[in-house]
Amino acid sequence: MITTVEPFAPFTPAFHVAHRHGRLRAVYLPKDAVRTNEEDLSHLDTEERNHAEHLPPRRRVQFVGGRLAMRALLDESAVASWAVLSLSSGAPLLPPGFTGSISHTKGLAVAILARGDHGLGIDVEDVTRCCRDVGRHVLCDDEREALAGLSESERWSQTLLRFSHKESLYKALNPLLGRWIGFRELAVWPRDDGTADVDSRADDLSQFPLEAAWLTVDRWILTTAVARRQGGALTR
Ligand SMILES: CC(C)(COP(=O)(O)OP(=O)(O)OC[C@H]1O[C@@H](n2cnc3c(N)ncnc32)[C@H](O)[C@@H]1OP(=O)(O)O)[C@@H](O)C(=O)NCCC(=O)NCCS
Repeated sequence: MITTVEPFAPFTPAFHVAHRHGRLRAVYLPKDAVRTNEEDLSHLDTEERNHAEHLPPRRRVQFVGGRLAMRALLDESAVASWAVLSLSSGAPLLPPGFTGSISHTKGLAVAILARGDHGLGIDVEDVTRCCRDVGRHVLCDDEREALAGLSESERWSQTLLRFSHKESLYKALNPLLGRWIGFRELAVWPRDDGTADVDSRADDLSQFPLEAAWLTVDRWILTTAVARRQGGALTR
């Protein structure tokens, strides 16, 4: 079980995990305040900081939180100077030899980093988010049928888990595939052991062996995904 670090101060470390897909770090984000101060920005690379200063306040908070989480991981890997800017696709630009991903939700930003050239994705969702009927847009027919007999709250948490898996799978796959992927092009079957089976429902997706995993920490669901190039080795 992973416990969070108090006192929940904005932009401070929340938790870290040595995960099967890489090292993962989370930092708290301010819940209501949308301002960042000099101290928060001072830990960023100069180019990251310049970028952050031109973002609208809410987006700046997310960007800064994600970069601080990724900066901590790069520091652990002895990468002293690297600006994690964004590619035109939106994916984070990481140093050669590394792969990783960033996600944010209300109150938390997370990053994952590993060595290799495989696709790696992460997503975080707040389970206390109010229920919306996203299942219709996110789930394949057989996924919806599998959840049909559950109570409303259980169906919501299972839908949110699958939504999160598909977001992290998108982040792992999109940089390798170079195209938009619809939610119904993948079906996800989470297992109790923290892994998930993934069915590709488009021919070009099946060229990338996929792995998916999930965990919960307090009120957050985190999912990670790996998309390997055929024959590619996975290294941490
Ligand atoms: C790109 C997308 C997955 C981002 O997810 P989100 O819920 O909006 O936001 P998150 O906080 O979880 O993630 C945002 C981070 O994703 C990363 N990201 C954005 N586009 C990306 C891409 N094409 N590839 C990999 N990572 C990407 C960035 O690091 C971004 O944070 P940053 O801008 O601060 O660096 C989402 O906006 C999207 O387009 N989803 C629809 C497609 C989809 O999910 N299909 C599922 C079927 S597999």
